[in-house]
Order: sequence, then C-alpha cells, then structure tokens
Amino acid sequence: MRKKIVAGNWKMNTIVREGVALAAAVNTELKNIDLPENVKVIIAPPFTHIAFVEQVTDENKVTVAGQNCATEEEGAYTGEVAAKMLKGLGCSSVIIGHSERRTYYGETSEILVKKVYTALKNDLMPIFCCGEKLEERESNKHFEVVESQISEALFHLSKEDFSKIVIAYEPVWAIGTGVTASKEQAEEMHAFIRKTVSSHYGKETADNLTILYGGSVKPANAKEIFSMPNVDGGLIGGASLKADSFIDIVKAVL
Ligand code: 13P
Repeated sequence: MRKKIVAGNWKMNTIVREGVALAAAVNTELKNIDLPENVKVIIAPPFTHIAFVEQVTDENKVTVAGQNCATEEEGAYTGEVAAKMLKGLGCSSVIIGHSERRTYYGETSEILVKKVYTALKNDLMPIFCCGEKLEERESNKHFEVVESQISEALFHLSKEDFSKIVIAYEPVWAIGTGVTASKEQAEEMHAFIRKTVSSHYGKETADNLTILYGGSVKPANAKEIFSMPNVDGGLIGGASLKADSFIDIVKAVL
C-alpha cells in the first residue's frame, strides 16, 4: 500500500526551547492516535534544533527530517550541513529543492541532482519539492515546468533509487499566501506527476510513489485535499507551528 505522509516544515521559525516544546506536544498528541502502518508523520525543524527534538520524539510516532542538505559529502564547505550529519543525528529524511531554496538561494536542477544523490547515499529519504510560479500557471506552463523539475533532478536515478523518493507538489503561489490550490488543481497535477513517472519508470513504481501537496494546508481544508485519489498527504508550513493544528491535519489523512 502507498505510504501516506504528513510532514511539518518549520522553516526558519522557533528557537530551540520553543521547538522542543512543539515537538514534545506533537509527540504527546500522537500517542493518542492509532496511526496505521502506512501513515507516517515527519517534522523538519531547523538544523540547530534536531538533536534536541530527537530526544523528545518517539521514532515510531514521528521522525525528524532536515530542511536541506549540502551538495557535498564533507570537507571545506563553511556553513553547510551534510546529509551524513543529518543521518548521524537520527534523521530519516530530508527536504530537497523547496521553492524557497530555489528562489532565494539559487538552487538549480544541477545542484538538486547532487543533493538527491548524497541524501540517498546516506540513507535519507528525499522529499523532493516541485511546483510552478503564478505566472507559469497563468501562461499555462505549469505542467511543463513541473515535468522538467522532476525529470532534470530525478530521472537519472535507477528505478530502485527512485522508489525511495517522495515528491511534494507545492505551487509557489499557494505557499504562505493563504491561497490553496483547489482539490481539483492538486489532483490534476498529482495525476500528471504520476503519469510522468509511469512513462519513465513504469506503472508499479508510479503507483507506489507518495505525492504530497503543500501550500496553505490548514485543518479547515486538509481533509478535502487529502481525499483526492492521487494526493497522499501534505507538506505543511505555517500550520505545523502549532501542535493542535498540525495534529488536526494528521487526523485528516487517516
Ligand atoms: P505553508 O503551509 O505555510 O503555505 O507552506 C507550505 C510549504 O512551503 C511547506 O514546505
């Protein structure tokens, strides 16, 4: 059965003390929820918080992800954090290619190829983000844009490696704006992504691929979006910064 995931991307929010309290609250709430085997909850705190957050979370309830990783394995790269270091802290996944990284830090497909490679090499599940800007949707280029983001960064992978990836579709115009894609818009793009993957890797790989939606998901709209057949959960920004709202979103995927 396809994995369903609700992942909280805290972005650059909270100081350690607040982050630990948030993680502990999420962990406590999750103890009251019977998560089916195929449902996973992930939180992605800032790097500085990870070691502390690991101490207050039970791995069988919630696992921890990095929000990014370096392109290189190790060495003289001042300020960077390697995939190996995330693994060493107990992370099981890493967000790669978030639109904020693409936009503000110039992350290109060539860079993302390296990040995906080093994540997989260090046994981290890449949560690979894609999504079009508003002007690209308005000029009807959204399918083309998402297809090239995926094919450029991922289609060099073997089928076996590709099957370890999760894709998050996050239309840039929906991130942090309060404007969510409609359930039809999300479903249409997710189905397109699955079809694109199917034509490259075959139907079985595409059917097993978890595709998350991200962009202004809140407790009020999560259930509707998650009800679509090709939407396998969400990547949550703002609403993951409050334990209650994040937990309500987790419940919406069940
Ligand atoms: P918001 O949920 O705040 O729109 O952010 C979505 C996102 O970018 C998650 O990675």
